[in-house]
Amino acid sequence: MSERGVAHFGERYGGEGAAPRFAQWNEVIASLLGHRSVRRYIQKPLPEGTLELLVAAAQSAPSSSNLQLWSVLSVQDPDRRRRLAELAGGQAHVRDAGLFLVWLADLRRLGDLAKHRGAAHEGLDYLEMFVMAVVDAALAAQNALVAAESLGLGTVYIGALRNHPEAVAAELGLPAQVFAAFGLCVGWPDPAAPASIKPRLPQSVVLHHEQYGAFERSVGALDAYDRLMDGFYTKERMGVQGSWSHHSAARVASAQSLRGRDRLRAALSAMGFALK
Ligand SMILES: Cc1cc2nc3c(=O)[nH]c(=O)nc-3n(C[C@H](O)[C@H](O)[C@H](O)COP(=O)(O)O)c2cc1C
Repeated sequence: MSERGVAHFGERYGGEGAAPRFAQWNEVIASLLGHRSVRRYIQKPLPEGTLELLVAAAQSAPSSSNLQLWSVLSVQDPDRRRRLAELAGGQAHVRDAGLFLVWLADLRRLGDLAKHRGAAHEGLDYLEMFVMAVVDAALAAQNALVAAESLGLGTVYIGALRNHPEAVAAELGLPAQVFAAFGLCVGWPDPAAPASIKPRLPQSVVLHHEQYGAFERSVGALDAYDRLMDGFYTKERMGVQGSWSHHSAARVASAQSLRGRDRLRAALSAMGFALK
């Protein structure tokens, strides 16, 4: 395990105890463990071909039945970026990042292909196909993210595009049965505002063996994670109100806590997804 890997592992889990020893280790894994979302970018152009390189990485992700039920849309126009930033709750990084990519769950292309061939396409009306498209889009996007980070670029996903799905669809000229699942900012991180590795839950909480373990077995570890995150919020001066448990529970307290996304099913229906 490299020094960089030991450091990343420590930050990911809070750094207590001896560094683990893994029989296998490489720089790909070090890069994965070093992930952190970047929300401050400098205005330096990306190297030529970056977009195409990231799309090649994205297309190299597995795809369910190789149906490739996703598309990606790159937005460069500054006015459109500004409007999307507002639709995403006023997130300045949507405006400022070198690249802004919108990852689309795309059932349209296969429907059009079937129509073009005079074939039936009723299967596209089922929830299963929507899930397949969103999973495919997420896997593709994450491959692009990993590729970008391996080049020293910073990234952050923008799920807030789902706050106003119809307005985003209109802004991007999306046809029926194409859904903007989330955005991704890519750019050169601002060295004046470095992002830190954010700790994750202990493995004992997320890793089950053979059968799903009861919640009670995790209570102590969740308390420990709250303490770890309290320290992280203070160190990073994040001004978070309450513990991780507190604000995570608040995020699902009511329909209103979903900040407009509680009406996603209705929005998807209006956008041509039958979700049977
Ligand atoms: C699907 C998805 C949507 C996200 N949406 C946003 C967003 O709209 N704005 C934002 O600042 N961060 C967003 N994030 C980033 C998460 O807040 C971030 O990944 C999480 O806090 C963990 O921090 P880390 O990525 O630095 O490890 C999103 C992440 C994912 C996976």
